[in-house]
Amino acid sequence: MKKWNINSWRKYPVKHIPVYPEADELDNVLNKIRSFPPLVFAGETRHLKQQLAEVVDGKAFLLQGGDCAESFAEFNPDNIRDYFKVILQMSLVMTYSASLPVVKLGRIAGQFSKPRSAPTEKQGDLELPSYLGDNINAMEFTKKARVPDPKRLFKAYSQSASTLNLLRAFCHGGFADLKKVHLWNLGYIKKSPQAKKFKELEDKIADALAFMDACGINADFNRRLKTVNFWTSHEALHLPFEESMTRVDSTTGEYHDTSAHFVWIGDRTRQLDGGHVEFCRGIENPIGIKCGPTSKGEEIVKICNLLNPINEKGKITLISRFGHKNVEKFLPKLIRSIKKEGINVIWSCDPMHGNTIKSTTGFKTRPFNDVVSEVKNVFAVHQSEGSYAGGLHIEMTGQNVTECTGGAKNISDQDLSSRYHTQCDPRLNADQALELAFLISDEIKKNSTYAKNSIRAAS
Ligand code: PEP
Ligand code: CO
Repeated sequence: MKKWNINSWRKYPVKHIPVYPEADELDNVLNKIRSFPPLVFAGETRHLKQQLAEVVDGKAFLLQGGDCAESFAEFNPDNIRDYFKVILQMSLVMTYSASLPVVKLGRIAGQFSKPRSAPTEKQGDLELPSYLGDNINAMEFTKKARVPDPKRLFKAYSQSASTLNLLRAFCHGGFADLKKVHLWNLGYIKKSPQAKKFKELEDKIADALAFMDACGINADFNRRLKTVNFWTSHEALHLPFEESMTRVDSTTGEYHDTSAHFVWIGDRTRQLDGGHVEFCRGIENPIGIKCGPTSKGEEIVKICNLLNPINEKGKITLISRFGHKNVEKFLPKLIRSIKKEGINVIWSCDPMHGNTIKSTTGFKTRPFNDVVSEVKNVFAVHQSEGSYAGGLHIEMTGQNVTECTGGAKNISDQDLSSRYHTQCDPRLNADQALELAFLISDEIKKNSTYAKNSIRAAS
């Protein structure tokens, strides 16, 4: 195998990396970032990998979610708090109904760069470079705003650092205490059917905690009852930035991309001979690979072998995103290719990116029913293939947005314009995200029982 080093990816073809007009200015910013502290610590990343290994074995479930793209304008503590509340609620619903620990992984604190389907955007007669994410250029439709500006990389690094700082405080400072589940409800979902169901769950948890307390088991003796682990992730798209965040762990000599605990390779950049796969080959972080309709089983097998030659459990998560109508066509073949080679992976389902449509009112949207249907189809296929559907990957927010149609409040095409705030793709709002968690919890339980039995039978 060819020797890897931190910048060996530069010798490979790369897609979706911006060209900066001032190369020197980019180097200056990257050097500054290189001298700044890591965002995450290598030991944390190893801990996450251990938790992901449990998911491979059907003993836990992976919930990965957050914005399609974070933005500078929407950055404020309330948005981070409300996002975190929804993640906690969803994972509580899943943990309770499926009796499984949920590994909580945010698309946050670094999810800025976007691969775009077209390099330019046209409005009237004017054609400009596409918006590529707030860490690269600005959304405003002017020539100046669309020029990649390296200073944005540093601003995104700083925003990620303070986002992570607040999330860490929430995890360990009392906010995630199981006794406080009633405080996780967001004001605007109080009247929805989800809120009623969540209240029933709160009551059951309060009863269980009271019983445990009476038996002498409480948060004073068991920190697990009042703290949670929460991990960060983003697409490793902007390789110059990822390279500048990659450091040698002094305790082991291994390379870790310290910009997040987990990074993934997108559906548009997973070429076997491309720079993104080359970069990810040398870092210790767990890696996600998005698998869309163009992914071939043999190719994904080769990528897994390159990224994970020792077949370590927890290292690779395959995130399928075929679109609800295409699951049966593509997923069984992919599962069989991976199974045939005995490769250890987490099978996660992204029901968002294959279900994007244009609404009759001109907005990019995703019908909630299509999202649910992709998840259900994925669960059904895994059950018939004897594999474990171990994860869900969604674009969601704690804000009361109207970006995806449907759900309990039945958002229509006409409603989309009222609170359509996303920087890029349409997200589930808190109501829809929680509804999805309730709808799929039973499936998770069935699937994990089934997978545990088949794993047991095979060993
Ligand atoms: C994304 O997750 O935001 C994304 C661009 O996904 P994909 O690579 O699957 O299209
Ligand atoms: Co997206």
